[in-house]
Amino acid sequence: MVLGKQGAGKGTQCVRLSHHYVVPHVSSGDMLRAAVKSRAELGLRAQVLMDQGELVSDELIMEMVGQRLAQPDVRLRGFVLDGCPRTITQAEMLDELLAPETLDLVIDLEVPTHLVLRRLAARRVCVDCGTNYSVSSPPALKGICDVCGGEVVQREDDTEEAIGRRLELYERQTAPLLHFYRRANLLAIVNGTGAADAVTRRVVRVIDEHLMDDRGRPRSERA
Ligand code: AP5
Repeated sequence: MVLGKQGAGKGTQCVRLSHHYVVPHVSSGDMLRAAVKSRAELGLRAQVLMDQGELVSDELIMEMVGQRLAQPDVRLRGFVLDGCPRTITQAEMLDELLAPETLDLVIDLEVPTHLVLRRLAARRVCVDCGTNYSVSSPPALKGICDVCGGEVVQREDDTEEAIGRRLELYERQTAPLLHFYRRANLLAIVNGTGAADAVTRRVVRVIDEHLMDDRGRPRSERA
């Protein structure tokens, strides 16, 4: 699971980790945006809150994430969890959902606030597949996604006001999770500054050290 402030690069790194380890990427934000786009009832309820930078209710999030985590691909291969849990209540509900299993590791991407503000202001996303771009690394053709040809735009919640609110809620509701997962001996803090490739190398090193034995086999498979 990957934690971090808004704009710390959670989405960017989770996509890379899911490719690297060939496991599903489970993102509460992406699932909510898909529900908004399909005009599903859940999406309509969530949209106003998301656009204002508010958190969606714990119950709604965990029902949605719980359904995804029950799917066979996730059960078989494991998963990279992005953007959830975001409150202590969600973390406790997640523990119940996963029991008797537990999370393997929680990565906190550390990035100073002035840098996340700069990244969020520069962020552009594909409305169709959600691929992330930024003003400094745009798609090859202006406004057109390299991956699927969809339109590349600024996210509705990347306004100054909504970003401020999301960061405020992060400090109040999400930062206490660091203590929660440190106490559970699951927390690894990784420097999220520098180029995305460099951050991925750091994260992969930490995960491999934690989850693989000296021969590169998953520790869970050791006799
Ligand atoms: P969500 O989609 O999860 O948004 P977020 O938490 O605000 O996180 P961001 O997507 O803004 O940041 P990120 O860390 O993923 O950064 P990214 O990789 O994009 O949630 C949206 C909303 O849904 C919430 O506000 C809430 O309303 C609701 N919601 C979702 N989950 C919820 C939950 N569990 N409970 C309640 N409500 C929930 O990177 C940012 C930019 O930086 C990009 O442009 C990227 O290209 C660039 N970048 C990334 N890494 C680097 C790097 N190393 N160097 C330079 N640029 C970089």
